[in-house]
Amino acid sequence: MIERRLWHPVVLADQVRDAPLAVRLLGEDLVLWRDEASAVHAWADRCPHRGAQLSLGRVVACEGGATLECPYHGWRFEAGGRCTRVPALPDFVPPATHRTTVHEAREAHGLVWVRLEAAEAGDEAPPAFAAEADPRLRKLNCGPYEVETSAPRLVENFLDMAHFGFVHEGWLGAREMAAIDDYRVEPTPRGLLATGCKAWQPQSTVHSTAPAQVEYSYEVMDPYAAVLTKVPEAASVGIDGYREAIALYICPVDPERSRVWFRFATADFERDDAALRAFQDTIFLQDKPVLESQRPRRLPLDLRAELHTVADKASSLYRRHLKTRGITFGVC
Ligand code: FES
Ligand code: CO
Repeated sequence: MIERRLWHPVVLADQVRDAPLAVRLLGEDLVLWRDEASAVHAWADRCPHRGAQLSLGRVVACEGGATLECPYHGWRFEAGGRCTRVPALPDFVPPATHRTTVHEAREAHGLVWVRLEAAEAGDEAPPAFAAEADPRLRKLNCGPYEVETSAPRLVENFLDMAHFGFVHEGWLGAREMAAIDDYRVEPTPRGLLATGCKAWQPQSTVHSTAPAQVEYSYEVMDPYAAVLTKVPEAASVGIDGYREAIALYICPVDPERSRVWFRFATADFERDDAALRAFQDTIFLQDKPVLESQRPRRLPLDLRAELHTVADKASSLYRRHLKTRGITFGVC
């Protein structure tokens, strides 16, 4: 399953503190914990001794470095996963085969990312967008939002402008202004790029004072990650010339259950974090009931399964991309 070789976000980095933390990714239970150097580790949440959940255990400082102690018989495992101590046999030196199942974990964009299998092509990083590298822009994560649908349905909703006038009426659109101008869409190695996407929006950001015609580009950076970038225009961005962006990062928890974050790169330096998050909460809580109502929850990759118009060409290309890429999780 190619999804196992991709990086996925699982939790906000600052949520992983002194205690081990249970998360779920691609239908698998994982435990996250931090060692004495603050490095994050992601293991299968199952003790190799008798299968107890390691996330119920504790992090213990030891001479050779921090260990994770199983809640059941107290076996301890060092950062690399190897068992260092079996309390029932104090003199026993565990062989190298006594170890947990270890995955790769990394921090990026304020999130912990995990991949379940190493990629053959080497060390690809978690997906990042261009505005991330602009130090002038303020970065802020909103979420997580727990959603009862597949990750690909969420990506498609993010690419979809035709719902603005209905789901986000009065905010991102108006039903009498729902027409979608033609836009361009092209495949990229990791997804797709849609440019020239225009929308008329009454309240496109928390600081909008008047309706504006906004122009976006959308990029799918990975099967479950996308970013919208605003074309600089005084009416739609905080400060003229800044390329503000919002990334969608999704943890595919189960085939029909996802955890979502939005990462803002914004030129708004006035509102506090709570105000920016409240705006995004409002927008996403408008999407959520509709998203959870879609059937099937898994995205159909057979283009004959649902109806498409030319206004949906970004989503049609996304489905073709997932199929070509061999994605099987969250699709049907
Ligand atoms: Fe973990 Fe026994 S089940 S130490
Ligand atoms: Co929406």
